[in-house]
Amino acid sequence: MNRKHFLQFRDFGADEFDYLFARTRVIKDRFKRYEKYHPLADRTLVMIFEKASTRTRLSFEAGMQQLGGTAIYLTTRDSQLGRGEPVEDAAQVISRMCDIVMIRTFEQEIVERFAAHSRVPVINGLTNEYHPCQILADLFTFIEHRGPIAGRTVAWIGDSNNVCNTWLQAAEVLDFVVHVSTPPGYEVEPGRAGLFGTDHFKEFSDPIEACRGADLVTTDVWTSMGFEAENEERRRAFADWCVDADMMRVAQPDALFMHCLPAHRGEEVAAEVIDGPQSVVWDEAENRLHAQKTLMEYLLLGRIET
Ligand code: CP
Ligand code: NVA
Repeated sequence: MNRKHFLQFRDFGADEFDYLFARTRVIKDRFKRYEKYHPLADRTLVMIFEKASTRTRLSFEAGMQQLGGTAIYLTTRDSQLGRGEPVEDAAQVISRMCDIVMIRTFEQEIVERFAAHSRVPVINGLTNEYHPCQILADLFTFIEHRGPIAGRTVAWIGDSNNVCNTWLQAAEVLDFVVHVSTPPGYEVEPGRAGLFGTDHFKEFSDPIEACRGADLVTTDVWTSMGFEAENEERRRAFADWCVDADMMRVAQPDALFMHCLPAHRGEEVAAEVIDGPQSVVWDEAENRLHAQKTLMEYLLLGRIET
């Protein structure tokens, strides 16, 4: 079905992101002034979770309510999705009963198959491959603090995971550069990241060199959900990929630090960095709410003149 979805970052173009960032500013300011705004009255969001969540669930559920709609929380544990009902059948049924769907699951292929059989827009709330809503909020946060992202340098330190892949796609769409440093054996796989080329990212074996001159330093857990069996092996492999004060020191003096959260202080980031003056992790987490409200409004109502 020819319907707009947000399954990976490059599903939207630069012009759409410019609109979404400007509109998020309006939606956020309105929320801060306690202005009632219910453009999605009588609309229903279904959220399907196959993995744990704090921020994604809260931001989508609270966001839908704030826009006047309703959100329904489904998990694979307590629905037929966990008992082998085909994704295609679930998509047909669920999308006849609601207006928009958000899915957090394992393989990207699952959200793609769901979307192909959905009557309503589908949003990727994290897969093994991508986390587009996170980078939507992260980019808004960067712009809020430092202005346009085009031409800037982002340093990604640690695992080349779903969040990293999404940063790499964003760099292609919005024309900035990502320096990536991972331990050997955990490098970016351009095919898995869904990249068109390698013009917008550069790999570094030394994390300090990746951070040199960066406008933003960012990282994530060493072990993502679904990969827990590799935890011990990863802790050994990633020991030198902890974002610390030495890394922040070689970045731009006004560099920001971001982490999608949840964080492990003393593993992927030192406490002095995540709790330090360059960290904007709480703004980043809050902005999930504002960015995703804007995303739902856009997918359901299109562009709104402000
Ligand atoms: N960053 C993020 O997606 O957090 P949750 O796993 O808590 O949703
Ligand atoms: N990369 C992490 C992000 C959690 C929000 C994971 O997939 O578990």
